[in-house]
Amino acid sequence: MSTLELAGKHLVLGLSGGIACYKAAELCRALVKAGASVQVVMTEGATHFITPTTMQALSNRPVYVDPWEDRAAADGSNNMPHINLSREADAILIAPASADFMARLLHGRADDLLALLCLARPLARVPLIIAPAMNREMWQHPATQRNVAQLRADGAHVLDVGQGEQACGEVGDGRMLEPEDILADVVAFFQPQSMRGQRVLITAGPTYEAIDPVRGITNRSSGKMGFAIAQAAAEAGAEVTLVSGPVALKTPRHVQRVDVRSAREMLAAVQSHADQADYFVACAAVADWRVDGESERKIKKDGSGDTPALRFVENPDILATIAQSERAESGALYCVGFAAESHDLLKHAQEKRQRKGVPLLVGNIGPDTFGHDHNRLLLVDAQGSMELPEASKLTLARELVAEMARRRAA
Ligand code: CTP
Repeated sequence: MSTLELAGKHLVLGLSGGIACYKAAELCRALVKAGASVQVVMTEGATHFITPTTMQALSNRPVYVDPWEDRAAADGSNNMPHINLSREADAILIAPASADFMARLLHGRADDLLALLCLARPLARVPLIIAPAMNREMWQHPATQRNVAQLRADGAHVLDVGQGEQACGEVGDGRMLEPEDILADVVAFFQPQSMRGQRVLITAGPTYEAIDPVRGITNRSSGKMGFAIAQAAAEAGAEVTLVSGPVALKTPRHVQRVDVRSAREMLAAVQSHADQADYFVACAAVADWRVDGESERKIKKDGSGDTPALRFVENPDILATIAQSERAESGALYCVGFAAESHDLLKHAQEKRQRKGVPLLVGNIGPDTFGHDHNRLLLVDAQGSMELPEASKLTLARELVAEMARRRAA
């Protein structure tokens, strides 16, 4: 993730009492590294798990705990930290949020500074993001589940819980998400929701066409652009399915990933999801040909110096196949193609858009971008073309997602 995703954002990071407070230290550091300014507020319970000194050092600001302290009065202000702290914030993030703290929020209790400032925040302007953390039995308890549902109904953004081994030794749902996942969810929270409720199907990466069990033909696509589009679409509120060839990339949060190897496997996976999709983005570098008659056994040298004669057959064109479907032709499924060219980008992109029969084609210079984190894109549609200047693949992906949503709506 780029380092300054939260530049200009001011967050109140609230800690309630729980063993997951140890992760709040790393979270605080990650938020600051991402460019946010962070004001830490702790419940008295939280101070039993981690000291305000630690949180102060990581946030570079004095920590607030006590609703009665008169620190604010010393600077001539109104001595109302519960009012002042929330007014400045772009969001209040409670991490960890204990079962008890959520129960207190739910009832609008104001018996400590953190609960008080959550209650006193301007509802329409300062969102509340909650990262629950508790034992699995506590998490599953109907009281907690009822509280989570009610907190959501009251407008809070409750994050998922993590799954796995817990501090108490039990295994299950309920532990706090890892700091990097909370950071990703907070970054996503601030993105425009241009694809809320939409379903997006994406292909990414290369395909691998086997010659025999140990050899194959593939290409230099890293999958980074397709993965960035999957992340951007998920951040924009879409339900994303990412069909990926062999790549070494982490699946973006909240994205359903389907791993495939060959072009034909990719086509089958795409066809099984295309019926439910609103968008299809073909970002994969699909091998145009596969070896005719893959050998079941490793091809051996026979000592004669002769080389094996490989014959090729053409692979199915996944994008063209989907673009010709009834749903795509009726406009129910909006298809986007990619073109990796080495020269004459505009001309080739225009021709390719027509040939593939898609409303939008995204061109880039392949050799300039393979494996890199940066790129430049050229968007070509029936109206003309538009350049997205050099930026990180994630920035470009967010711009592309916004353009897709705008064009589809128009
Ligand atoms: N594509 C696909 N299935 C294929 C080949 C390509 O879905 N078998 C998709 C790619 O994902 C991309 C677009 O089609 O969105 C363009 O692919 P590209 O290989 O660049 O174009 P080709 O049609 O193969 O044309 P050329 O080789 O002449 O550049």
